[in-house]
Amino acid sequence: MKFFADTADIADIRELAETGLIDGVTTNPSLIHKSGRDFIEVTKEICGIVDGPVSAEVVALDHETMMKEAEKLRKIADNVCIKVPLTLDGLKTCRALTDDGTMVNVTLCFSANQALLAAKAGATFISPFVGRHDDNGFDGMQLIEDIRLIYDNYAFETEILVASVRHATHVLQAAKIGADVMTAPPKVIRGLVNHVLTDKGIGGFLKDWQSTGQSIL
Ligand code: G3P
Repeated sequence: MKFFADTADIADIRELAETGLIDGVTTNPSLIHKSGRDFIEVTKEICGIVDGPVSAEVVALDHETMMKEAEKLRKIADNVCIKVPLTLDGLKTCRALTDDGTMVNVTLCFSANQALLAAKAGATFISPFVGRHDDNGFDGMQLIEDIRLIYDNYAFETEILVASVRHATHVLQAAKIGADVMTAPPKVIRGLVNHVLTDKGIGGFLKDWQSTGQSIL
């Protein structure tokens, strides 16, 4: 399972990249706003830190303007992945860009039928938002299961990128279902390492080691 960092915070991205656990980055207009940085500049900087796909989202709602924005964004670096919304214009843009060899992430997916459309449009990634789905009384993980089933039924190559991940249980469930990628805030990714028994075990081992009076170095 690939891990993408869902942030435009350079310090966080650098720190996570150094662990070797990050395969890409996703951003959206809200995360760019939160970063307080210029969109093009910060995207370029992120693309220089990670080798994998870096999602940069168009903000136009019509196909023609989306294409113009995508044209500018894809010139930033070879690993830019254009993010488009799940609308008919977004899907049309997705088809045009993927036919041209550009990676596309179709975002704001909330139904399996939407995911089916994105796969038919040749999307590189489909981003179902599990957290927001849960927030609104739906079952985010059922959506991931349904998309996995449909994509496997027809051998679609579009990768399921589980987004709007809020906690470790989302990550675990998505991995069990067989999602290809998950994107999460850095805090959630760092939190995956935590276990009270790991901390307790380290404490016990260190105490006994100190009692031996030895040192490895
Ligand atoms: O990747 C999409 C993600 O940023 C949305 O997350 O927490 O705003 O629902 P959230």
